[in-house]
Amino acid sequence: MKRIPVSLGERSYEIVVGNGILSDLGKAISKLGLGCKQMIVSSERVWSLYGKVIQDSLVSSHFDVSVALVDDDEEAKSLHSVTAIFDRLLENELDRSSGILALGGGVIGDVAGFAAATFMRGLRLIQVPTTLLAQVDSSIGGKTGINHPKAKNLIGAFYQPTIVWSDISTIRTLPERELRSGLAEVIKYAIIADPELYQILASTLHTFPNLSSESVIEIISRCSSIKARVVEEDEKERGIRSILNYGHTVGHALETLTGYAHYSHGEAVAIGMKAAASISCELGFTSDETLELQERLIDTAHLPSRIDQPIKPTDILQQLKKDKKALGGRIRWVLPRTIGKVFLTDLVPTDTVLRVLKDMA
Ligand code: NAD
Ligand code: GLY
Repeated sequence: MKRIPVSLGERSYEIVVGNGILSDLGKAISKLGLGCKQMIVSSERVWSLYGKVIQDSLVSSHFDVSVALVDDDEEAKSLHSVTAIFDRLLENELDRSSGILALGGGVIGDVAGFAAATFMRGLRLIQVPTTLLAQVDSSIGGKTGINHPKAKNLIGAFYQPTIVWSDISTIRTLPERELRSGLAEVIKYAIIADPELYQILASTLHTFPNLSSESVIEIISRCSSIKARVVEEDEKERGIRSILNYGHTVGHALETLTGYAHYSHGEAVAIGMKAAASISCELGFTSDETLELQERLIDTAHLPSRIDQPIKPTDILQQLKKDKKALGGRIRWVLPRTIGKVFLTDLVPTDTVLRVLKDMA
C-alpha cells in the first residue's frame, strides 16, 4: 500500500493506493472525524461489482449508510443527477456533519463531488475511484462539476476530498477500451514529468494491468504523486496546473467535433499528444527522438495517433479557439521539450498547427 499526501493546508488529504483494500475503508475513515451518516453515490454497474464490500465495511465501522445510484454515462453529468442526489440526501436526513462517498469512475466522482461541494454549502467527500482514469486523475485535485448542454465541465467547483481510496483490483473488471483510455493519462504523466515512469512503462505497458500488484501500485502511485505535486503548487489552475492538460487541447476539440461518439477521451488525448509533440518538433523545441519515444508508448497501449475521421484542420482550429482554456481566442499549448519536461505557450503559429493536423489525417 502507498500513501501519497496532498498538502493544501486545512484542505490536505491522503491518496491511498493498494490492492484489495476496499474492505478496509470503513476502519480507515473512522479515524477522520466524519459524521456517522454517509451516502454512497454510485452507478448500477459499479454498485453491483463493489457496492456490497464498501457498504459492509462502513456498516461494520458503525456508519449509518444510505445509497444513491445515478447513471454514469457522460450525459449523466447533469443537474438532473445532482438533483437526484440532493433528493436522496434529504430523504435520508443527511446534515452538515454527513458525507458523500463517490464510488465509480470520473463521471460519478465529478457529479458526487459537485453535490458534496454544494449541498448545505459542503459535505465531506470521500473519493473511491474505480477506473484507471479516475485513480490517476479525476479523483485527485478537487475539480468537481457537471456539463452544460453547450459545453463540457462548464459548471463546477474546486472541492477537495477528505481522502482518495484507490483499490487497483477494481481496474481489472474495466472494459478494455476504458483501460486504454486511462493509459493515455498514464502516458501523459510520463511525458510531462517523469522520465523514470517512461522507462517503467516502456518495459511493462504491453502487459498492463496483468503485472504484479506492486508494479501496478507503483505506476498508479507515481501518477497520483505527480498530480498531487502539481495541485499543491497551483490548486486553482492559475498557471502550472495547465500542464495536466497535455494532449487535451486537440483532444477536446476532436471529442467535441465528433459529438463524443467516435473517440474515447483517452484516444482523443493520445492523438492530441501526438499533435502537441509534432508541433513542438516543427518549431524546434523538441527532437524527433522525443516524438518517436512518445509514439512508441502510444502504439504499445493500442491508442491512435492519427485522425481517422473526415475533420478539416480548419474546423479543429476554430474549435481550439472556443476552448474554455483559450484566453481571448489565443490557444494555450502544452508542448514537450523532452521526455519528462513540458512548457506552456500561446505563441504557436496558426500555419504550423494546420500543417501538423493535415499531416495527421
Ligand atoms: P466513466 O466514469 O464514464 O466510467 C466509464 C465506464 O466504466 C462506465 O460505464 C462505468 O460504469 C464503468 N466502470 C467504472 N468502474 C468500473 C469497474 N471497476 N469495472 C467495470 N466497469 C467500471 O469514465 P472515466 O474515464 O472514469 O471518467 C470520465 C469522466 O471523468 C469525464 O466526465 C471527464 O470529464 C471526467 N474527468 C474529470 C477530471 C477531474 O479532474 N475532475 C479529470 C479527468 C476526467
Ligand atoms: N485533469 C486536469 C486537472 O485536474 O487539472
